[in-house]
Formats: sequence, structure tokens, C-alpha cells
Amino acid sequence: MYVCLCKSVTDKQIRRAAARGVDNLYELRENLGVASGCGKCASMAQSILDESNASHAQPTMYVPSSA
Ligand code: FES
Repeated sequence: MYVCLCKSVTDKQIRRAAARGVDNLYELRENLGVASGCGKCASMAQSILDESNASHAQPTMYVPSSA
């Protein structure tokens, strides 16, 4: 679906950018132009970016302490 109508950017493009390492709205704007027009897409783009980055996060390993 289109997230940014001004720049014709889809959620898939945002997810692909996140998979390449884009992790904030500033970088997303630099890469895809998201939120560089009217700005109404910023919160939706941020949500998709956050969701994508959370799903790519490495699980943390639990290491029990000896104390
Ligand atoms: S909808 Fe993205 S800048 Fe207008």
C-alpha cells in the first residue's frame, strides 16, 4: 500500500529500506523522500520502520549470573 502519496512510496519500499539498515525517519527521507512533501505520512512511515526494525532485531541471550 502507498504510505507516502507525495513521493509514491509504499510500505514494501520502507520495509526493504529497513532491511538495508535504515533505522530512522531522517535516513528514510534521505533514501526514499518519505515525509519530504506535506509530511502527513511521517507517523505511518515511522510506525512501519519501527515494526520492521523490531522484527529484524537480534534476540538477546540470557546469561545467568553466578552470584
Ligand atoms: S504523503 Fe508523504 S510527504 Fe506527503
